[in-house]
Amino acid sequence: MSARVGLHDLSVATTSLVLELDDLAAATGIDPAKYRLGLGQQQMSVPAPDEDPVTLAAAAAEPVLTRHGMDGIRTLYLATESGVDQSKSAGVFVHRLLGLPSTCRVVELKQACYGATAGLRAAADSIALRPDERALVIATDVARYQLDSPAEATQGAGAAAMLVAADPAIAELEAPCGISTADVDDFWRPNDRSTPLVDGKRSIDAYLDGVAAAWDDFRLHGGAEIGQIDRFCHHQPFTRMAAKALAGLAEHTSTQLAEDLIVASTTYNRRIGNTYTASLFFALAGLLDHDDELAGKRIGMVSYGSGSVSEVFSLRVADGYRSAGRGAATLAGLNARTPVDVERYRALHDAGIFGSDANITVEQTSPGPFHFCGIEEGARRYRRD
Ligand code: CAA
Repeated sequence: MSARVGLHDLSVATTSLVLELDDLAAATGIDPAKYRLGLGQQQMSVPAPDEDPVTLAAAAAEPVLTRHGMDGIRTLYLATESGVDQSKSAGVFVHRLLGLPSTCRVVELKQACYGATAGLRAAADSIALRPDERALVIATDVARYQLDSPAEATQGAGAAAMLVAADPAIAELEAPCGISTADVDDFWRPNDRSTPLVDGKRSIDAYLDGVAAAWDDFRLHGGAEIGQIDRFCHHQPFTRMAAKALAGLAEHTSTQLAEDLIVASTTYNRRIGNTYTASLFFALAGLLDHDDELAGKRIGMVSYGSGSVSEVFSLRVADGYRSAGRGAATLAGLNARTPVDVERYRALHDAGIFGSDANITVEQTSPGPFHFCGIEEGARRYRRD
């Protein structure tokens, strides 16, 4: 990469409702320590009926556009596992809600929890070629598992929006990356299902194997040595998975890697749950917002999407990376969520799933500016207040 290209801004958003996992544990007769310590999860963001991956994506991206305007944005990559249409990109709805110019191309990317990493790399490569342009990469997902399954407590929802530009204010994306693709049935969601089929134990092994192979490829392609990485951010289906992955990498590279390297990266994820393709970037936001010592440091980014594709890459943090006051806004969003009890959460679990045959009106119940309004003549309708 010739020009310095990377993250110029990063903004995250989650839903307006939240479930305490202690409440879920009490309702299902499970020891709450299993969720808090075994999985490393405390809360789960729950979407209201008028919130979905489109409204979350728009909510995440709006502050970025307020801070930086739209000039030069010619690409929007929207990555999601929970897309709302088999043909149309969810990004096209987001493009209209945000008022992006018609000269901005829009594409949806899918590879389970990995998609946004591919979007980030593609965006950075294109900006390196045309440094006057900027690109928006949005990762957005509602992680919905079957009720009463072992994965239920890992659900969550949220979006992360990244502005990719030359001379980035937050972090430069370094050129080396390591990739590993392997066809494995660990987690997948056939077209006729609203929740995935999961082999939980296999998925953990597939994640660890994928990361080890991607690490080897990273080193082969000129990536930093393990001792030259100052912090790590991992895809976090649950935050203890980051600790498992760090330990796996330590064993693979015959080094000691202290959990201090990942603690700040779990701050938001433990309160939100899995956000699939956004999860790695919630980890990055948590790290950037809670670590004062990052200027000039290298962050190792560890991406995993079931099925599976793994990628290891690195960011070099810029001076002044905390200047935009993003952390206070994210914390305010988390604290503003309305608590729901288990009965209400379970009633909402499938509330957003319906066919396209009937006209449906969805009442506005969430306080945010973007709303899913229902289905009219088969098409999804969205509104901005
Ligand atoms: N106190 C403290 N800890 C406890 C406990 C208690 N009372 N009871 C159990 N635990 C611990 C267990 O020891 C275990 O920890 P270790 O893995 O470190 O041994 C942990 O809590 C989980 O317990 P179980 O293994 O018994 O959990 P489970 O069988 O109920 O399922 C899961 C766990 C497989 C992760 C399940 O939640 C699941 O299937 N999740 C979805 C798939 C997933 O997240 N896979 C991760 C890799 S794939 C990926 O990353 C892509 C993606 O986003 C889906």
